[in-house]
Amino acid sequence: QRVDTSDQWIVERTGIRERHRAGPDDTVASLSLTAARIAMAKAGVGPLDIGAIVLGTATPDRLLPSTACDLQALMGAHNAAAFDISAACPGFIYAIVVAEGLIASEQADTVLVVGAEKLTTITDHTDRSTAILFGDGAGAAILQRVKGGDRGLLSTFIKSDGRLAPLLLRPGGGSSDPISEKVIRERSQFMKMAGREVFKHAVLTMAEACDEAIKRAGITADQVDLLVPHQANIRIIEATAKHAGMPMSKVMVNVDRYGNTSSASIPLALAQAEQEGRLKPGTVALLVAFGAGFTWGAAVVRW
Ligand code: ACO
Repeated sequence: QRVDTSDQWIVERTGIRERHRAGPDDTVASLSLTAARIAMAKAGVGPLDIGAIVLGTATPDRLLPSTACDLQALMGAHNAAAFDISAACPGFIYAIVVAEGLIASEQADTVLVVGAEKLTTITDHTDRSTAILFGDGAGAAILQRVKGGDRGLLSTFIKSDGRLAPLLLRPGGGSSDPISEKVIRERSQFMKMAGREVFKHAVLTMAEACDEAIKRAGITADQVDLLVPHQANIRIIEATAKHAGMPMSKVMVNVDRYGNTSSASIPLALAQAEQEGRLKPGTVALLVAFGAGFTWGAAVVRW
């Protein structure tokens, strides 16, 4: 599909230069498997060590069962409980919060947390206001109880406001409006977004999430070494950095390379930051995201 847009408009208004589209045989579960294997190898754990799989996604492969169960089967993680988290772009941060709870309540010692999406399947490629934004991807992390030391999660914060749902939603194809000729005709199986309104709320909610996570961690903003924001739009990232009082040199940006990959955004950014040597043992990172719901959240991590 061709839409009336230009590379110049897209780069100026969003900062996005390229996006990735999963291959026809890739599923959210198979993308997750690739990410999970890398995370497990780094953490030195095997599939049978995993007590829970918590997978954030807005694009499950099927509506039933969960993509996390498909991933479990692909991995052979037969000792795990597996389920999806539906929290849109902060899905990875919500999944971390759930994983922390599972570990604290001794349901699991080792949790695989995944953020994975095939957003290009729910993007209306005839709608220029959304078609230019979204890409596919997956990222994963292993969470375990820390035995001594001062590394790990210092704080988390999550919040939602369902009154803002009409600003960003996928109206059709669920149980309130099952797939039908009407849904197809109205293209309501695709995401609809009031971009300018979403932008405003994104800036406000990311600011609140940063403040709360920093406060709960008992640190000050200048003790944060690296801000890892949800990669939706460079202008939203810049506004968030400004609010947090952080120079862009302390901000992880890869929206130019991947566009908005929703719940995969933060783990993809973390993986790249680690590869580039920007996350070293002891680095204090502030993760922050917002998305459809509205949902938002943040976490402070000492790497
Ligand atoms: N190419 C050219 N022109 C365009 C395009 C495009 N791709 N898209 C919109 N326009 C036009 C509009 O029609 C409008 O024209 P008009 O002034 O003649 O009416 C003009 O550009 C400005 O449109 P705005 O929507 O005001 O543009 P804005 O600067 O707000 O940028 C954007 C739009 C990029 C969508 C921005 O609002 C944004 O990033 N919002 C946040 C979106 C977001 O992050 N969503 C993800 C949430 S995460 C999740 O849960 C999936």
